Amino acid sequence: ALIALRQLLDHAAENHYGVPAFNVNNLEQIQAIMQAADASNAPVILQASAGARKYAGEPFLRKMVEAAIEMYPHIPIVMHQDHGATPAVCQQSIRSGFSSVMMDGSLMEDAKTPASYEYNVAVTREVVKFSHAVGVSVEGELGCLGSLETGEAGEEDGVGAEGQLTHDQMLTDPRQAKDFVAQTGVDALAIAIGTSHGAYKFTRPPTGDILAMDRIVAIHRAIPNTHLVMHGSSSVPQEWLAIIREHGGEIKETYGVPVEEIVRGIQSGVRKVNIDTDIRLAMTGAMRRTMAKNPGEFDPRKFFKDATLAAKDICQARFQAFGCAGMA
Ligand code: G3H
Ligand code: 13P
Ligand code: NA
Ligand code: ZN
Repeated sequence: ALIALRQLLDHAAENHYGVPAFNVNNLEQIQAIMQAADASNAPVILQASAGARKYAGEPFLRKMVEAAIEMYPHIPIVMHQDHGATPAVCQQSIRSGFSSVMMDGSLMEDAKTPASYEYNVAVTREVVKFSHAVGVSVEGELGCLGSLETGEAGEEDGVGAEGQLTHDQMLTDPRQAKDFVAQTGVDALAIAIGTSHGAYKFTRPPTGDILAMDRIVAIHRAIPNTHLVMHGSSSVPQEWLAIIREHGGEIKETYGVPVEEIVRGIQSGVRKVNIDTDIRLAMTGAMRRTMAKNPGEFDPRKFFKDATLAAKDICQARFQAFGCAGMA
């Protein structure tokens, strides 16, 4: 059944677990996530970015999620809009049936220029007002995702801020977080602690100076009743990088957010954990491998089937690690 994000994260807080929020844009990803949720008896958050809506088209995306709800009536499902750039985008998503929206007011409408605090408060507050009126939850973001190593937003294909960010911009301030929640009434707050979107997060396995897990503790102390959200939370499995490279892919040396760090975050109030890149890597690795091993194969279902299984394994591992398994 479709439920609101608030409902799910309240349950997660009461029961001390975290929920992975997986980005989706096609049939195979949705099937992989639902198969994993079914096998783990876990609630799910399916989230769609602006890029996902552009790729699949709004009706296809909506109908595929409706199909997931119909096929798995016993699994609670949140349909969340990821990184809404404007209140208008959030309003459109509500109209298309999303039960939760993210207003990312940390960046301006171009989704590239860091915004002022006042702008962020104003747009987020507006979205909370019209969303709560119809029972839809709202996630806000305070602080900009970016690498504490390089000062860059990270993603090469343009998800996130453009240009150099300051150290302060990349770390959410606990006192400002308290004010932000009081002024906007958001249900969940995405925080910046040194993670970034995409595969290239860290040039070495992260330590406390480049992945500021301690910040989470301080923010949770300031706003204990707000559900915290970690973006850029893919772990970038070295096994999948190796498989991609073995079969002709080119991926530079890179490291993600270790699962055990995320688990620490969950112990400090993180309830929603955004994951896109790990599923992309697993699907790409599985497809490359199957194609290389079966050069005569030309039925795409053979490649997609292995990609779905690889994605399903990643999802099941995250449900398990985050304490989400058995919570449906
Ligand atoms: O917010 C970042 C997600 O990984 C979505 O990426 O815009 O390429 O769909 P996308
Ligand atoms: P990753 O790129 O680390 O998977 O992060 C996804 C994300 O934060 C989507 O909002
Ligand atoms: Na989001
Ligand atoms: Zn994100």
